[in-house]
Amino acid sequence: MHGDSHDDGQDPKEKINYKATFRTLYGLTVPERRGFITAFVWIMLSTAANLFTPIIAKYIIDTAIPSGKSMMLLIAVGALFLNSMLFLGFSYLLRMRLVRTGQKIMTDLKKRMLAHMLALDLPFYAEFPVGRLTARVQSDTSSLYELFTETTVTIFRDMIMFVVTFGVMFYFSPRLTLLLSSVFPFVLVISFIFLRKSSTLFVLVRKLTSEITGFLTEHINAIALLQAYNREKMAADKLEVINKKKFNAELSGEFMSIIFYLSIILLSPISIAIILGVGGGWAIDGAISIGTLVMFILYIDTLFEPVFRLSEHISIIQRSFAAGQRIHRILERRPAIVDIPKPRYLHSIKEGIEFRNVWMRYSDDAQWVLKDISFNLPKGKSLAIVGETGGGKTTVTNLLFKFYTPQKGRILIDGVDLPDISLNSLRTAIGLVHQDIYLFPGTIMQNLKLMDDALPDSMVHDAIKTIGLETFFKHHSLSKHIVEKGVNLSAGEKQVISLVRAMVLNQEVLVLDEATSHIDPYTERLINTAMQRLIKHKTMIVIAHRLSTIRNADNILLISEGEIKESGTHGQLLERGGVYSKFYKLQFGENG
Ligand SMILES: Nc1ncnc2c1ncn2[C@@H]1O[C@H](COP(=O)(O)OP(=O)(O)OP(=O)(O)O)[C@@H](O)[C@H]1O
Ligand SMILES: [Mg+2]
Repeated sequence: MHGDSHDDGQDPKEKINYKATFRTLYGLTVPERRGFITAFVWIMLSTAANLFTPIIAKYIIDTAIPSGKSMMLLIAVGALFLNSMLFLGFSYLLRMRLVRTGQKIMTDLKKRMLAHMLALDLPFYAEFPVGRLTARVQSDTSSLYELFTETTVTIFRDMIMFVVTFGVMFYFSPRLTLLLSSVFPFVLVISFIFLRKSSTLFVLVRKLTSEITGFLTEHINAIALLQAYNREKMAADKLEVINKKKFNAELSGEFMSIIFYLSIILLSPISIAIILGVGGGWAIDGAISIGTLVMFILYIDTLFEPVFRLSEHISIIQRSFAAGQRIHRILERRPAIVDIPKPRYLHSIKEGIEFRNVWMRYSDDAQWVLKDISFNLPKGKSLAIVGETGGGKTTVTNLLFKFYTPQKGRILIDGVDLPDISLNSLRTAIGLVHQDIYLFPGTIMQNLKLMDDALPDSMVHDAIKTIGLETFFKHHSLSKHIVEKGVNLSAGEKQVISLVRAMVLNQEVLVLDEATSHIDPYTERLINTAMQRLIKHKTMIVIAHRLSTIRNADNILLISEGEIKESGTHGQLLERGGVYSKFYKLQFGENG
């Protein structure tokens, strides 16, 4: 699902939606309010210590030195030193508190995103490729770290520091302070221009970052395919292109930040020139003291530091909001299928499953995949679905599991509409063997238990016994380690494992999608025998291309182009001499 122009629903000129993102980001800080308040206390104390330094310096120059008393000078210098020590101590406490709070928010956010994503529906996963979701959980959350450690608290401190410094300076010399204020309109204009220009760049950087993770995930997953077709270099070249784009975007972003930072830094020498030039003139006239001039110069840094830092803050805020917006997009997403307020819980299925005139298409502009499908599967009976590839067989199971919702028609279990049934209880009652088998890295035993260590081993042994596969598992030790995606197993072995996995929970209804297509004739016979046993106890839906598996089903549907073309038992369908009997003869020869 990778493409240069299309990226998880964001267009390239997209700007940051600050309001919505702010709400999400603010929500993250709420549980950590106490941490932020403590940090704020430390930051205020360290700021106060910082503010005192120039005042003590002015006192030393204007009072202690002229007084000629060395004791007074000693005490003042001691106070200056103690003040600096306090500043360091508070700064240490502040850092530690911020790091802890920031890390806590990151971990909680990752946890929340994962929990949220796990509850989302399959259409969501069709829209957001796996690699890019990984990027959102990993790198987008991490790029909020600076926001929550550096920016959030510092911004308040800077505002207060600016106002207080300005006030103190104004107190000692209103004229000089007002004169210095003339540089601030420039700061505003420069900041505004920077903000406008760089917003899209930061969005672009986040997007390209996730595109790279996405690309890597997709291509490393497909490594066997790439190597088989000698496409390694092609993949590397494509990655190079995205990397280059990211490089350029990062560079442009940094370039703007640097220009912005430097143009603001330029204000410092300008201000010192104003103080020494104009203020120096006033000192000659005796209008202000030398100590005040020194104090003003020392304060210039304190006054401008918040303004300098504003440039850093603005880029961190933009970076974080670009990431925050992507996180917000995921968190605001509601699962397409949720339980109604008072759902019905399926404790056990008493009557059966019914599809009544069901119509389904995967999107509004797509073709109908299922057209007016109706069937009835009474409890304890078995239904087989056969038909050409792409005919809509898997779609039937997708609807039964509420992975998707049909546009028209009803699906009923014991006469209750599927939307009224609790999702959890539905999926507890019905077991599924997927057509695409996924195995986790871990032992066969762990996989059979769906990686749930709480399940006892005996459930696995029972399932193996029921299906009669003891011999198979003598050759394939349950402690054998399966590597990622099960590449150290044959396709048939994977199918057997996924079949047993569906038996372990001993659910009432079992849906098998193509579960036996890769199994060798010997194992297939084993499973078929087991299946005949199972069919007696369970309600089953079996989707199969191999007709041998389903000969004994109570009812067989032939679905083609989304419609039920034929239905009946194996015998009835053969007698009819329609498509099913043609299929059957193709597989087993005229006399099969
Ligand atoms: N998630 C999806 N989004 C969009 N279209 C889909 C999706 N899944 C399936 N389709 C389309 O719906 C049609 C029916 O697919 P379905 O998987 O139900 O076929 P099937 O009968 O199970 O085929 P097979 O025998 O090959 O497994 C196909 O044309 C397919 O392209
Ligand atoms: Mg299918």
